[in-house]
Amino acid sequence: MLLNMNIPCFIHFSERLVSPLYSSVPTTTTATVRCSRADNIAIEGRNLNFSFTTNQAKAVPILKDCSLRIPSGQFWMLLGPNGCGKSTLLKILAGLLNPTSGTVYVNEPKSFVFQNPDHQVVMPTVDADVAFGLGKFNLTNDEVKSRVSRALHAVGLSDYIKRSVQTLSGGQKQRVAIAGALAEACKVLLLDELTTFLDETDQVGVIKAVKNSLDTSAEVTALWVTHRLEELEYADGAIYMEDGKVVKYGNAASIRSFIEAKQSFYIKQINS
Ligand SMILES: Nc1ncnc2c1ncn2[C@@H]1O[C@H](COP(=O)(O)OP(=O)(O)O)[C@@H](O)[C@H]1O
Ligand SMILES: [Mg+2]
Repeated sequence: MLLNMNIPCFIHFSERLVSPLYSSVPTTTTATVRCSRADNIAIEGRNLNFSFTTNQAKAVPILKDCSLRIPSGQFWMLLGPNGCGKSTLLKILAGLLNPTSGTVYVNEPKSFVFQNPDHQVVMPTVDADVAFGLGKFNLTNDEVKSRVSRALHAVGLSDYIKRSVQTLSGGQKQRVAIAGALAEACKVLLLDELTTFLDETDQVGVIKAVKNSLDTSAEVTALWVTHRLEELEYADGAIYMEDGKVVKYGNAASIRSFIEAKQSFYIKQINS
């Protein structure tokens, strides 16, 4: 149940994590964003639809009646074939796109972390980058230092505090971006295929950093888009999409078995 139905709230972002995404956005929306609820749900989408409008004014459906609920403090993953609508759904949850219809609730503040590590970091050193978004909070120097240090500890980068960001690997840059969000007391992390451009060591480093961020603070919830089945071992729950629809969601092990069964069915079909 959505609470405070009549109280709209402003969507908070760490500006550096957000860039313009699409030139075409739907012209009408019945969607609403609500804040503060008493139950334990950090992310909820109900009956979300999203269409792009072509130059010929034709609506092309991308998301079709997608619903999901993610409990607070959990690490969930969103999987599905290329082009099935994962990034679109994540951007709607982030407030970067408006759904054509449906209802969105996401705990705030929230941050969206993009795929390309080089789009995440803006300052020359690690500590300056993590502190970048804290200017708006009117904190003392000691408070800033303490937040930066706690956030870097959560992502396993305490020893890198004075490092130049240019010397970091892609995965370390992603972790600095996540630390920036944590330093701002972000409650929801929306992470879009962060491990795509990373080597294996970096992939594991980033996923463990997210997991550890959730373990460090019971308030942080993460939704992680991936196409790597093996990453499901870190997840509390998962959502599987196909062709713009949420096909299945539940515990990570059952989603993994579901996808593996689909894959082996598909392989048998093409080999027969
Ligand atoms: N700017 C856009 N204009 C039109 N169609 C788009 C745009 N961006 C994405 N799409 C289409 O929306 C569908 C879902 O895309 P996306 O959410 O990026 O999928 P995924 O992240 O699962 O790979 C795809 O068919 C894609 O081609
Ligand atoms: Mg995508």
